[in-house]
Amino acid sequence: MRFDIITIFPELFAGVLECGIIRRARQAGVADIRVVNLRDFTRDRHRSVDDRPYGGGEGMVFMPGPLFEAIEYCRGTGGGRVILLTPQGRRWNQAMAESVAGLEHAILICGRYEGIDQRVIDHMVDEEVSIGDYVLSGGEIPAMAVVDSVVRLLPGALGNESSARNESFAAGMLDFPQYTRPPVFRNLPVPEVLLSGDHEKIARWRKEQALEKTRRIRPELAGSDGAPKP
Ligand code: 6GU
Repeated sequence: MRFDIITIFPELFAGVLECGIIRRARQAGVADIRVVNLRDFTRDRHRSVDDRPYGGGEGMVFMPGPLFEAIEYCRGTGGGRVILLTPQGRRWNQAMAESVAGLEHAILICGRYEGIDQRVIDHMVDEEVSIGDYVLSGGEIPAMAVVDSVVRLLPGALGNESSARNESFAAGMLDFPQYTRPPVFRNLPVPEVLLSGDHEKIARWRKEQALEKTRRIRPELAGSDGAPKP
């Protein structure tokens, strides 16, 4: 799958693209991720991307010119789904990540908090996405979250051990607690059931723990009867 990320801060992406699963997916040819500098699509001496809002008010607004040209450049002759990262968007979730993972090409636009010219949204953007109800100064960190959540779903991006874990969240449950060695650390023991070797009992315990945690921390994920949502 191919990603283009349009941003005024391309340097921010070096870290996430060069570590861990995203790095491996790129090396394996599973993900082709390009970072595109919006300023490369300006024509003035100052390489301006924004201007004052018509009608007055605080802050600056991204002008349509550089964004139209950057998106057209990324699209090339093909398509590509254009996703704008903005606090005004639909809240990102696992189902949306799965749907984007099925695409051949996604073009992510990192908005600035103050906004972008509405003509870009009306004529170039397919979908507006937010990652939660809090304010970030730009769409760069949200774009990293979106890319990470999608890349790890791509076939060949990581081992099979992960697919079960993705399904656990898709099933509407938080994870059960994990422990590793040593069996007693500073007088704190690992729950006995995990050392019992009784795999049925362990599975039942883990389900109970996950359910209890989901009810406590994210009651809206668990149904009213406390059972996970279908
Ligand atoms: Cl996508 N952008 C900004 N600027 N703030 C956010 C966000 C996006 N999602 C949550 N907060």
